[in-house]
Amino acid sequence: MSENFITKSGKEVFIRPIENTESDVKAALDFINKIIEEDAMIKRSGDPATLEEEKEWVENTTKKVSQGDEIFLAAFLGEREVGATEITRQGGRSKHVGTFGITIAKELRGEGLGRELMRQILQEASKIGLTHIELHVYEKNEPAIKLYTSLGFKEVGRRPEAIAYQGKLITDIIMWLSLEEASGKRP
Ligand SMILES: CC(C)(COP(=O)(O)OP(=O)(O)OC[C@H]1O[C@@H](n2cnc3c(N)ncnc32)[C@H](O)[C@@H]1OP(=O)(O)O)[C@@H](O)C(=O)NCCC(=O)NCCS
Repeated sequence: MSENFITKSGKEVFIRPIENTESDVKAALDFINKIIEEDAMIKRSGDPATLEEEKEWVENTTKKVSQGDEIFLAAFLGEREVGATEITRQGGRSKHVGTFGITIAKELRGEGLGRELMRQILQEASKIGLTHIELHVYEKNEPAIKLYTSLGFKEVGRRPEAIAYQGKLITDIIMWLSLEEASGKRP
């Protein structure tokens, strides 16, 4: 599971699972700290991650991947991580459901990379037996909502004032996708 992707402006990006190596930890740390600094509309916020935290996170993530409980794909431009997406298996009676997340580096947005990462990870999700995908998105995150809707995700709920973002309480939208429905196997 690794593929090259050429972005709309012609950049060659390599997409593959993250590995528990020093260079991937360093690339993941630089990537997430730029996103935290930007104050992007994702769950992670506040202080920058430390090298120790990132090592632990990559170790846990690759462990969950090896157990079939997570898929994590990273996009690299040379050595630099420029995108990441994950689907984590839920527990208990919802083991067939995965929770989705995605982040693209600011300079690479609008180049088709988000859509490509989603295409790849949703394919992988079926392979590990997931049948439904859940995601959460801030109400004002128009690019993300457009992308998700175009792939068949439907809004199934709202949590008003659930997110404190830049001094305001904003609505968290819950979206849902049946992988069978999306692939046309079920009406
Ligand atoms: C949301 C995000 C993942 C989209 O990734 P991307 O690589 O920029 O998206 P793509 O270039 O693949 O565009 C896919 C679709 O998204 C929508 N889109 C992308 N940028 C947009 C913009 N600036 N305004 C409106 N819609 C936009 C379009 O519908 C686009 O469709 P197209 O393929 O027909 O052009 C990216 O903007 C991002 O990482 N944002 C910051 C973190 C974040 O918000 N993550 C999601 C949290 S729920």
